[in-house]
Amino acid sequence: SWTPHSFVESTVAELKEKLGNDKVILALSGGVDSSVAAVLLHKAIGENLYCIFVDNGLLRKNEFQDVLDSYKHMGLNVKGVNASEKFYTALKGLSDPELKRKAIGKTFIDVFDEEAKLVEGAKWLGQGTIYPDVIESVSVNGGPSQTIKSHHNVGGLPDYMKLQVVEPLRLLFKDEVRRVGKSLDIDDAILQRHPFPGPGLGIRILGEVTAEKVRIIQEVDHIFISSLKEDRLYGDVWQAGAIFLPVQSVGVMGDERTYENAVALRAVSSTDGMTADWVHLPYDFLAKVSNKIINQVKGINRVTYDISSKPPATIEWE
Ligand code: XMP
Repeated sequence: SWTPHSFVESTVAELKEKLGNDKVILALSGGVDSSVAAVLLHKAIGENLYCIFVDNGLLRKNEFQDVLDSYKHMGLNVKGVNASEKFYTALKGLSDPELKRKAIGKTFIDVFDEEAKLVEGAKWLGQGTIYPDVIESVSVNGGPSQTIKSHHNVGGLPDYMKLQVVEPLRLLFKDEVRRVGKSLDIDDAILQRHPFPGPGLGIRILGEVTAEKVRIIQEVDHIFISSLKEDRLYGDVWQAGAIFLPVQSVGVMGDERTYENAVALRAVSSTDGMTADWVHLPYDFLAKVSNKIINQVKGINRVTYDISSKPPATIEWE
């Protein structure tokens, strides 16, 4: 029967056989899937695995440095690339969600491709694709609906990257990936991390993305997520985050009338992201978080909590 341990043993043996002395390039995202895929590949081929971790300027607060450090501790051969300005430039003037996704995706490919070229003689592209990604990309491409968000990270390769693809997690579900990660001694901070979309905060800032809005929503998100952790609610939630709304509203501070931005907090429970319920977070907790945000984050005078389930709402707002 399937155990994480036997999966690791047989997969590492297969990868060794398949890859020999070839070089593999892999994009790390900070998420569970790419991290587990990287550690498996590293176990099989060591320094021939070249990991690239791109800062797209749309990550959570401190995420780039924290995650880069933990990858280095795990012994991975990883290069961090700060490309924030390129992404902000590509996003300038865009407010349509799909155009934003495309701009982010294209910029990512450009940055990644440039880095990949520096790895001479690389033959393979490693990916953390898991079973639900495989299913979803088939139904997105083959299904009748063209309106499904152009999410995912499967099949987005340009032709000019003439690399073969190796996907060691292709047959696993998320919980199995976590169990495999655990048996590989990967840090819980990575394994228990909530899912986070590839386009990151770029699709949690409704409308045009600017560096200033990113800074604001990073602060708000950081307060929300660290409060969830402090109150031991983080583990009960599938995914949580903050959304920067394209709305200003009137407030009052001292004798002054203010006219500032509003944010929405979202926390959902789910098993696979296909359906989701909003989490009934305790009122006391919401009150505390709201106070912290309004007191600490300049530019925000209103906090709302999203009480919509999927369907018909989606988890993300864009
Ligand atoms: P929705 O908003 O469709 O999200 O209910 C379902 C799950 O998918 C994530 N998501 C994305 N992931 N690129 C990604 O890699 C994307 O463009 C994207 N859009 C949504 C979302 O965070 C949730 O986990």
